[in-house]
Amino acid sequence: MSYHIRTKEDYDKNYLHSVERKNQFWEEIAKEFTWFQPWKKLMDCNMREAKFNWFQGAKTNISFNCIDRHLNSIGDQTAIIFEPNLPSEKAIHISYNELHQKVCKMANLLIDMGIGKGDRVALYLPMIPELAVSVLACARIGAIHSVIFAGFSSGALAARINDASCKMVITADGSFRGNKTIDLKGIVDEALLECPCVESVLVAERTMTQVRMKNNRDFFLAPLLEKASTNHEAVKMDAEDPLFILYTSGSTGKPKGMVHSTAGYMVYTAYTFNNVFAYEKNDIYWCTADIGWITGHSYIVYGPLLNGATTIMFEGVPSYPNPGRFWEIVEKFKVNQFYTAPTAIRSLAKESIDYVNKYDLSSLKVIGTVGEPINEEAWQWYHKNIGKEKCPIVDTWWQTETGGILISPLPHISPQIPTFATNPLPGIEPVLMDENGLELNENNTVGKLCIKEPWPSIARTIWGDHKRYIETYFSAFPGYYFTGDGAKRNDNGMYRITGRVDDVIIVSGHNLGTAPIEDAINEHPNVAESAIVGFPHDIKGNALYGFVTLKEGAEKAVQLESEINALISEKIGPIAKLDRIQFTSGLPKTRSGKIMRRILRKIAEGDFSNFGDISTLLNPEVVEEIKNGKK
Ligand code: PRX
Repeated sequence: MSYHIRTKEDYDKNYLHSVERKNQFWEEIAKEFTWFQPWKKLMDCNMREAKFNWFQGAKTNISFNCIDRHLNSIGDQTAIIFEPNLPSEKAIHISYNELHQKVCKMANLLIDMGIGKGDRVALYLPMIPELAVSVLACARIGAIHSVIFAGFSSGALAARINDASCKMVITADGSFRGNKTIDLKGIVDEALLECPCVESVLVAERTMTQVRMKNNRDFFLAPLLEKASTNHEAVKMDAEDPLFILYTSGSTGKPKGMVHSTAGYMVYTAYTFNNVFAYEKNDIYWCTADIGWITGHSYIVYGPLLNGATTIMFEGVPSYPNPGRFWEIVEKFKVNQFYTAPTAIRSLAKESIDYVNKYDLSSLKVIGTVGEPINEEAWQWYHKNIGKEKCPIVDTWWQTETGGILISPLPHISPQIPTFATNPLPGIEPVLMDENGLELNENNTVGKLCIKEPWPSIARTIWGDHKRYIETYFSAFPGYYFTGDGAKRNDNGMYRITGRVDDVIIVSGHNLGTAPIEDAINEHPNVAESAIVGFPHDIKGNALYGFVTLKEGAEKAVQLESEINALISEKIGPIAKLDRIQFTSGLPKTRSGKIMRRILRKIAEGDFSNFGDISTLLNPEVVEEIKNGKK
């Protein structure tokens, strides 16, 4: 493909070209794909109004580009390898031809069930082939998929289904995770009590557990698919037609349904997958994420398949049946590119090194990380023990909102500096801003990370709330996209992401907003108020610390802590449970009633050295009490 960057000269040339002749640069890349109708204008964007139009007037279909486009050349090649949770269960290899048949059948079934272009379909599925097939089938018929991570609780699921008025839910009877079986259908049933918009539910059978099926609403998937035809012509989608909605936590209130559109997302994810992982024909690529997150969308399904790659889908967890599982899989399939999260690396680094050394990892060429800052110790462990000091590490920085990787080392091109995401990819212009909204132009500086020019896969809006989209990302620094992250730029212009500068906390690589967790806690009848902050954790990166004030007269019963965590599990999901809970008689507040979180953050971190100016506090005496009661 013409868009490969494989040398430093390629990178420099491409970067310059992308900035100086933006339109021409993207047009050349876009030529790689099948367009049913060419674009009239490459782009028409306005950062202040958050209006993004790429490949205006063009028609294409991303599912067609992922599958049909490859059938003549590599139809028999494996597209997806499914590795089950249980190592003794056989892996399934699905060729591009087989994937085509499966996706066409599913597309026809969706149409039969009354799903059409623009309808929203919620996918609440384990990491089984049906998930990838459903994603691609929705894209094929122009339905908007909303994948909801199958670890979310029924309340969180219902909120997401209702937010986008999904007409259909595709789920499974249950899911296997390690030695646990989770009753997914039961969770869906509970959620649907609150979701009048859902007309039908398709149920894949995975665990073969007994489930309740509601007449005329719930249908098992397999028998219907069996009858469906394998002939289906992909719908000609407008370049800007929405492709999917994916929810991400905000620092306030309800989750944000980020909307991605068709053509820009397609071009950008394909381009970045190829270059960041230096993917070559016949390579076996494995990203350990879940398709319930953006990493899985862009770099398990779309990016790899657009490149005709072989991509692994792993159903299980890194620790089951033992902490050697990842490395066993690398050996088993001779994985060439391996992409995981710092949390997984930290947890596996704690285990005996025998779990790594037992396996032959010599197939690996590039290893990557995503989702949170990687600490130096974890980086060095990964470099030495997994990369054997020969594989470049790509520390990829990006977000649900960005659709694809924006800042990342490129293998054998960028310098390897632990904890640095290093350089922007071509087409991406990062800037650091100071408190006054001015660009910091010098190197060796820290600031708030913004992106100056639009790129093809930037989210188009928040579902149903464009105003919130503008307010969250485009109003702090008008004319720029504000990422919510802080970053440092070193003497050589390399970027290191330092972490969130808002009320989002990243726990084990999952974005969690503090407000929804506090709302959940506050629903407990004994709780008056609460504040959540993050504190450093060896494995999870950050863990959650809750300061909770009880109502007058309420008893601090022993079981209160577990009741609070149970409430959080029920409302959001177990990923948002608190590691520490401290009951206090009050929370430090300014005179205007705002909780001073920076004090709570310092206390949670165990840093009592300097609380800064607390003279504006309404109740300074509470700080001493909280300090003394620190868990
Ligand atoms: O804070 C950054 C962190 O993850 C946030 C985005 O989270 P999410 O939308 O869930 O997407 C995660 C997968 C792309 C960012 O704002 N983050 C992501 N990658 C890195 C990172 N922080 C540091 N280094 C990274 N490589």
